[in-house]
Amino acid sequence: ADVELLRSQLLRWYDEEQRELPWRTLAVTESDLNIRTYAVWVSEIMLQQTQVATVIDYYNKWMKRWPTVQDLAAATLEEVNQMWAGLGYYSRGKRLHEGAQKVVSELKGQMPRTVESLLKQLPGVGRYTAAAVGSIALGQVTGAVDGNLIRVLCRLRAIGADSTSPAVTEALWSLANTLVDPERPGDFNQAMMELGARVCTPKGPLCSQCPVQSHCHSFHKVHVKQEKNSRKL
Ligand code: ADE
Repeated sequence: ADVELLRSQLLRWYDEEQRELPWRTLAVTESDLNIRTYAVWVSEIMLQQTQVATVIDYYNKWMKRWPTVQDLAAATLEEVNQMWAGLGYYSRGKRLHEGAQKVVSELKGQMPRTVESLLKQLPGVGRYTAAAVGSIALGQVTGAVDGNLIRVLCRLRAIGADSTSPAVTEALWSLANTLVDPERPGDFNQAMMELGARVCTPKGPLCSQCPVQSHCHSFHKVHVKQEKNSRKL
């Protein structure tokens, strides 16, 4: 019941407040699963080490030039590197290119259809990226944990322990999997990302604007402390 309320509050906020990012609209309207998966894969690789605002133009240009995984596979690495210029960490573009060639030559041109196969088949796709692409493009029911979401989840459950330790990482993945909305997993994960980018920011989070404030253990702790202090005064 509590987790259902959190989901509905978060998704209602997301439906109203989300930024219209090109890979989001495409993931919703594109009926071809292969194109959807390819597009979200490209966006997630670009977003790995580059900010959303920078990625938008690169993503649009990329998709215009190589609208399908087959188009990308037919490009040369030089063309890919040229397109990537300015994004940094060139190995990401190389991995996309390698992955596209693998999909065409070994998987009959069909993008992987599950989180497990995304992880196994695509170079440069780790646990987070597989979960993000699987949930956003394919509706696979899985949580997703990246650096920003670690912060959000740790605050939500007031986890003060070292969030980089393997045990805490596992606990956070398990929490993310418990929280994710089974009806709208991709939207839920992107809503959490949106929350981390816009509200639950690293410094000076905007708790008064947070749609899930009532579920947040950190907020509750600080709030209770402040109330006690003000009673003392
Ligand atoms: N960062 C990584 N993936 C993202 C997405 N789908 N939307 C916004 N920020 C992101």
